Amino acid sequence: MPRITNKLFRKAKEISNYLPPLLKANRSIEKAQLELKWIKEELPRKEWVSAVNQRSKLVPLQYILRTQPFGELNIICRKGVLIPRWETAEWTESLANLLTSHGFDDLNLLDACTGSGCIPLLMQHKFSKSCLKLNSTGLDISPKAISLAKYNLEKYKSNNPTFYVHSNFEIADLFDPRLGVELHETKENTVDLVTSNPPYVLSKDYTKSVLRFGVEKSVRLHEPALALLGDNEFYDQLINNLVIPSRAIGFVFEVGYISQVQFVREMLDNEVWGVGLRYDSAGNVRCVIGWQKDKKLSVLESMCKEVFND
Ligand SMILES: C[S@@+](CC[C@H](N)C(=O)[O-])C[C@H]1O[C@@H](n2cnc3c(N)ncnc32)[C@H](O)[C@@H]1O
Repeated sequence: MPRITNKLFRKAKEISNYLPPLLKANRSIEKAQLELKWIKEELPRKEWVSAVNQRSKLVPLQYILRTQPFGELNIICRKGVLIPRWETAEWTESLANLLTSHGFDDLNLLDACTGSGCIPLLMQHKFSKSCLKLNSTGLDISPKAISLAKYNLEKYKSNNPTFYVHSNFEIADLFDPRLGVELHETKENTVDLVTSNPPYVLSKDYTKSVLRFGVEKSVRLHEPALALLGDNEFYDQLINNLVIPSRAIGFVFEVGYISQVQFVREMLDNEVWGVGLRYDSAGNVRCVIGWQKDKKLSVLESMCKEVFND
């Protein structure tokens, strides 16, 4: 990472007094200028000083500007809730495009670890645009996340008054054994598809720098560890506490490591379930996808780059 020299600092100051604090997060004048342009475009003048000072403390720009694009949506961001990532938007859009192109109507989606609500909201948007009905529920353990997801839902509805949305968000702990029991017992509330971007960063990588395939310092400092740190225990709960008891016939889970794909694959009966994996456009393993063979969501197989055949 390039060092911020006194010369660079002075050069930035000559251009604008707002630029030097932005160098800490951006490391180059060009990138700092781009951020300053966004800050000036998105925020009232009275917030500019506070915005650049927050950036000098590595507060993510999305918390300062309060939004992040997610597919065709603009998701509101708040401290305490994970900022949606492009990798998640990428597979969510592909999933929505696949399901709507096959004309799935009245589909029931359960999104676990929903955070800002970005996944079900983008799915709702795509289904509404195709005049198809999606019933979605988003669950999260964090009251801050559920409050933000509900806010994002209301914002979406007021920005798109002609679109039908059938969505709700609830606080729930994925590790609560009553969750699976309740899903099993609620007959009228069926689930077809489970999606999730659970916490999946291994603690050994959480403390490493991004150059050593770890996590950005700004993420470590300012985004909730609750949303990031996790491993196979989350996939275990997703399968055994949600997918199986709810009798869902398909799932798409984001992953960070191939070991998490293998873990999910080994948990499922391969007579009943097809399982595959998907990469993101940067070439990293990104999703483990499952479908019950011979059921309507077996179309999920086409989202996979590799399918396990044994
Ligand atoms: C990686 S974030 C994903 C947020 C959002 N789906 C997204 O893609 O931006 C993981 C989420 O899991 C939630 N979470 C962590 N532990 C949980 C648990 N035991 N039960 C339910 N949700 C949990 C966190 O609060 C966080 O919002």
